[in-house]
Amino acid sequence: MDYQDPGFWRAGAISTTLVMLVVLAFLSIDSMAVITAGGRNVPNYDIINRHIDYRYDWSRRAAVPVIGGAEPLFGKTVSLAEASELMHTGKLVIQSRACMDCHTIFGNGAYYGPDLTKSWLDPAWQQIWMPMTGKATREEAMVEFLMHPDKYPTWNRAMPNLHLTQAEARATVAYLKWLSSIDTNGFPANFGPAARPQ
Ligand code: HEC
Repeated sequence: MDYQDPGFWRAGAISTTLVMLVVLAFLSIDSMAVITAGGRNVPNYDIINRHIDYRYDWSRRAAVPVIGGAEPLFGKTVSLAEASELMHTGKLVIQSRACMDCHTIFGNGAYYGPDLTKSWLDPAWQQIWMPMTGKATREEAMVEFLMHPDKYPTWNRAMPNLHLTQAEARATVAYLKWLSSIDTNGFPANFGPAARPQ
């Protein structure tokens, strides 16, 4: 082997790049299989028809979503196509109102308001917002809060009214419910009672 020959180093650089390209392609395809809705870690959008619980798993040392029986959002079972349409609208609401200027999802965004990844599972909906808004279900209380957050201040920081229509607020709630079903390895930490071993 002639280490003085530039061709040796060139061949090394080219072969390393090619091997790493193959590894990158493999990792990208594998990641897509994991993170796509309906993939290994992310339930499909029609999960919003089911009950979602959050329990501490001792073997994983983290809280994990537990999918239960039927619990249709707003009392109406939706098809996968209808659920996908709701997610599309929910995402557009979150983008168009720049919710991430104050909130985080999966830790991305700003830290003025609470992280929204598990917001659907927040016991405060039942404990504080349902009595406050006079609504009979969590999803209705969420819609009422999202449409008039300025009317229901709970902590020191207030959320402004971002003028969501009822359809937009309902789609956002659907999006937040789906989001909470994703196994995030216990992120965010210290979220609610499920974050602690019981
Ligand atoms: C200007 C900052 C700001 C913006 C923009 C904002 N929020 Fe908020 N949000 C807050 C604050 C602060 C709170 C906590 C207020 C409270 O509990 O009274 C909050 C609370 C919430 C909660 C309750 C979370 C929980 O589990 O306690 C939800 C859900 C929520 N916001 C969703 C949204 C969505 C969806 C958008 C975009 C449409 C949005 N927010 C835009 C500041 C903001």
